[in-house]
Order: sequence, then C-alpha cells, then structure tokens
Amino acid sequence: MADYTAAQTRPDEFAAANKAYFDEQAHHDHGHGQELGRRNVAAMRKTWPELFDEDETVAMDYACGTGNVSRQLCQYVKAVVGVDISEASVDRYNAQAANQGLEPDEMRAVCAELKGEPGELDGLKFDIVVCCASYHHFPSIEETTRVLASFLKPGGSLLVADIKAEEDGRLLFSEGYHHIVPHKHGLSEEEMRNAFEGAGLAKFETRETFKAKMRSTGQDMQWFVARGVKQVS
Ligand SMILES: C[S@@+](CC[C@H](N)C(=O)[O-])C[C@H]1O[C@@H](n2cnc3c(N)ncnc32)[C@H](O)[C@@H]1O
Repeated sequence: MADYTAAQTRPDEFAAANKAYFDEQAHHDHGHGQELGRRNVAAMRKTWPELFDEDETVAMDYACGTGNVSRQLCQYVKAVVGVDISEASVDRYNAQAANQGLEPDEMRAVCAELKGEPGELDGLKFDIVVCCASYHHFPSIEETTRVLASFLKPGGSLLVADIKAEEDGRLLFSEGYHHIVPHKHGLSEEEMRNAFEGAGLAKFETRETFKAKMRSTGQDMQWFVARGVKQVS
C-alpha cells in the first residue's frame, strides 16, 4: 500500500495522496459513511431549514466521494452537482444515481480539482455549497474556502460539517492511520471562522451537532456544522 506520511508535511502533495487513497476506497461501501452523510444533512436541515427548497435550491456537494451526502440532499433540493478529485468515486456516484433513476440534471458528479477560476463548472453558481467529512483532509482550508465561496450566488451559503478539534489539541486519529491518508486532527471554531471570514463570507455561525465513533479508533468524536453567507454586493 502507498505510504502518505510525507504528505503530512508536504501540503502540495495532499491532493495527489487524497486522490490515490479515495480512488482505492471508492469500491468499499461503508455503512458508516452513509450514516454520517445522513446525520450531517439532517443536522444542516435542522439548523437552517430555510436553505433547502426542493423547487429552487441548486446545491454543490464538494468532495462528494461516492455520494453519501448527495443521496440525502437530493430529496430536499432541486439539483445537486457533486465534485471530487477521485475519478473512481465520481464514477461510482454517477452509476448509483443512474441506478436510482435520477436524471443528470437532478444529481450528477464531475471529477475536477477546482481552483476558483472563471468558467469552471460551465460558470454554474450555487445557492448552497456543502462539504462534509472532508475539510480535515485539505492542506489549506483558507484556500478551499476561498474557492468554494467563488461558486456561491450572492446571498448563497457555504455549509461545512466536520470533526471538532479537542481543546487540548489531542490527536484524534491513531498514529497507524497517518501513513494511509493525509488529514488533520479536527478543526477548531477559530480556524473555521478565520477561513470563512478570510474568504469574505459573512454571518459566520457554528453548532455542535452529534458525537460519533471513529471507525479507525473507536473513539467518540464531536461533529459540528458551520455556515457562512456570501454578501450581496
Ligand atoms: C472522507 S471522504 C468524504 C466524502 C463525502 N463528502 C462523505 O461525506 O461521505 C473525503 C473526500 O474528499 C475528496 N477530496 C480530497 N481532496 C479533494 C480536493 N482537493 N478536491 C475535491 N475533492 C477532494 C476525496 O477524494 C474524498 O472523496
């Protein structure tokens, strides 16, 4: 198996290491991932119900993987576009959507590494961009947040669900997991606020949502949702 230890200290290699790992993982269906997708979408809907309109809302599911989040989300919005760097995950996402009888204009995924440059995703802009269980895999959440903010319509919201860092900075993933995939040990409210405000998003809010056992360690981890709003200029 590939060893990604170096990527822990080489942010420029995070994307390639993530892609290799999640390409490998795309063929394993974890009930755990589906359950987390269900709980994260439920938490977002409970906290901000006004953001989910099945006749109007166009959503991006960033770092969509095989579609654990999109399959929940698609019931409550008009359309979902998944985006991921793992081709194998995107292929599986689209095959499952077709099996469910969903049309591409309702739910589809594209394989891309977004940079926030004009013309990406055919110039599509979104009412909400959601990103679940992935921020702790990104080398720079400031940069990712800036990119995602550029895909929001004015007044649109970025919604992120992830694992909260422990206040004492305790490691949340076992050492044995480090070589498998690059990641951080959760995210603090301050880091999230700085990233959102740095990307020009207003009205930052965050809520603790649920605790879930991590598959790799069996440890309980606290999840949160965060929201920021793109200002109408
Ligand atoms: C833990 S999975 C989460 C998948 C899904 N959001 C869920 O909740 O089930 C992390 C995902 O992030 C994707 N990813 C990592 N870096 C990325 C990047 N730079 N751009 C897009 N996707 C990325 C991986 O390919 C993987 O599918």
